[in-house]
Amino acid sequence: MLAELEKGPTGATGAGEDQLALRKKMTETLIIEESRHEALEEMYFWPAVRKHHSAGDTLADEATTQEQDAKHVLAELDKLDASDTRFEELLGTFIGAAREHIAFEETQVWPGLRSVLPAEVATELGTKIAEGKKTAPTRPHPHTPASPSVLKTAGPAVAAADKARDAVSGRGTG
Ligand SMILES: [Fe+2]
Ligand SMILES: [Fe+2]
Repeated sequence: MLAELEKGPTGATGAGEDQLALRKKMTETLIIEESRHEALEEMYFWPAVRKHHSAGDTLADEATTQEQDAKHVLAELDKLDASDTRFEELLGTFIGAAREHIAFEETQVWPGLRSVLPAEVATELGTKIAEGKKTAPTRPHPHTPASPSVLKTAGPAVAAADKARDAVSGRGTG
């Protein structure tokens, strides 16, 4: 999705009205998927890193800070049309930060975790994350703390409210 959005065209590089509408839809889908992904990491993945990885707290603190920063960018991006120049500025900022964040997780966190996480814990974690996708929030919520207990308590209500708003506005469809 990041690579597809990077290709453009953008408002500045000659995208027509239909292309801009499609670009907005693709960005909505990106925000929905990213919001679900990070909420699930914050509920299940980072607690596992904190528990099992020897540098878990430091890694999880750094990663959740990156995730919170990205939520602020996405919350603003979600409100803009693709014809807005600020839209491309924010999308570009997000794409750069997302690539760095993915690299951080894949190179700094996963290898160490893989070597210490017992197989049954890894399987259980995978199941929880896969199942949680259905009820995860679809919006960034930068002002909600990235705390597993807060997300697990408030998460389902927040996710239901997100879905209701999505249904009314047609966000993430078409
Ligand atoms: Fe993440
Ligand atoms: Fe991730």
